Amino acid sequence: MNQRSTLLSLALLIGGITMTSCTSNKPADDQKSGLEKAAYGQLHDGRSADLYTLRNSAGMTAQITNYGGILVGLTAPDKDGQFEDVTLGFDSLTTYVKSNPYFGALIGRYGNRIAKGKFTLDGKPSTLVVNNTVNHLHGGTVGFDKVLWTATPVEGDEPALKLTYTSKDGEEGYPGNLSVTVVYTLQKDNALKIDYEATTDKPTVVNLTNHTYFNLTGGAKRTILDHVLTLNADRFLPVNETLIPTGQLKPVSGTAFDFTKATRIGDRIDDSTDVQIKYGMGYDHCWVLSDSSHNLKPIATVFEPTSGRVMTVQTTEPAVQFYTGNFLDGSVTGREGFPYKRRYALCLETEHYPNSPNQPAFPTTVLRPGQTYKTTTIYQFSVKK
Ligand code: BGC
Repeated sequence: MNQRSTLLSLALLIGGITMTSCTSNKPADDQKSGLEKAAYGQLHDGRSADLYTLRNSAGMTAQITNYGGILVGLTAPDKDGQFEDVTLGFDSLTTYVKSNPYFGALIGRYGNRIAKGKFTLDGKPSTLVVNNTVNHLHGGTVGFDKVLWTATPVEGDEPALKLTYTSKDGEEGYPGNLSVTVVYTLQKDNALKIDYEATTDKPTVVNLTNHTYFNLTGGAKRTILDHVLTLNADRFLPVNETLIPTGQLKPVSGTAFDFTKATRIGDRIDDSTDVQIKYGMGYDHCWVLSDSSHNLKPIATVFEPTSGRVMTVQTTEPAVQFYTGNFLDGSVTGREGFPYKRRYALCLETEHYPNSPNQPAFPTTVLRPGQTYKTTTIYQFSVKK
């Protein structure tokens, strides 16, 4: 046990503090799983947000606020059993409110872009808020990442938090009152499960996801260029210069987009011969999963060689947006005053294809009254020595 771990153990014993630190020592065997609630701060309109800490019996913690349903922190052990945060985030609610590039956030109603913020459903046109050059991105100016959800702890043998939000007919331009439920569960097997559900009272489109930025070094010590990625996806969606898919599904074989075998992310991220890399300023594309069924299946593995941490991703979704933090530029100051620079994190946003409402050949994102939108994604952590 190192000096920091020893001090922290003392603090836990003396202060009875059990769940407030983002870095902790190797847990004792009798560590209890559970959920704690603490005040997190006030929004401009006077409403309060809370911070929930979920701990599993292995000592892993997930911190979630009901503001934006944001995953504020997630600890996972390295090969020596050292728990560290594997996400990017801020120290305070104020920063999340002021300038969050979607760190940890729930995204809705529509993950990623809808071209020019327009689509037509059953002959009825909708005009959405345009918030990303000429396009609509991640649900608009006030997406689900910026609303206050209602949080309820869920009874059970694993700590879980249920978040609900009703998005009003017309919100950000979308049709229908949409009732959304998201449940975060911190499983015994060091997996964070996210279950999404939604229903509507008018035909609409839905594509929910979570936008956590991961860095498996722990505490974001370096870029993610040395992380090694495997993606079970044999095609990806090429985009135009505003990052809207062209409609083509392109085989990854022979391109910088082929992660079907474990590959260091940095190897081809700046492949200047590929216009797609130029458009995304690196990876910022949607991969079409080889198994695009609605079954829960493993789709990605990320390995960080120094810490030995491994993250595997499972989902019921047909695609995943792999984004390498290309637009981080050091101007965002994260936890403990640390500036997050370009490529200091990666996102694996499980979802339907961007701009599906305007591409009839893409799997549908339409939700009708009487139907229930239901998806699940699991991020699981382990180590490889
Ligand atoms: C998008 C990026 C965007 C990032 C943060 C990703 O899902 O694909 O283009 O910059 O989110 O907004």
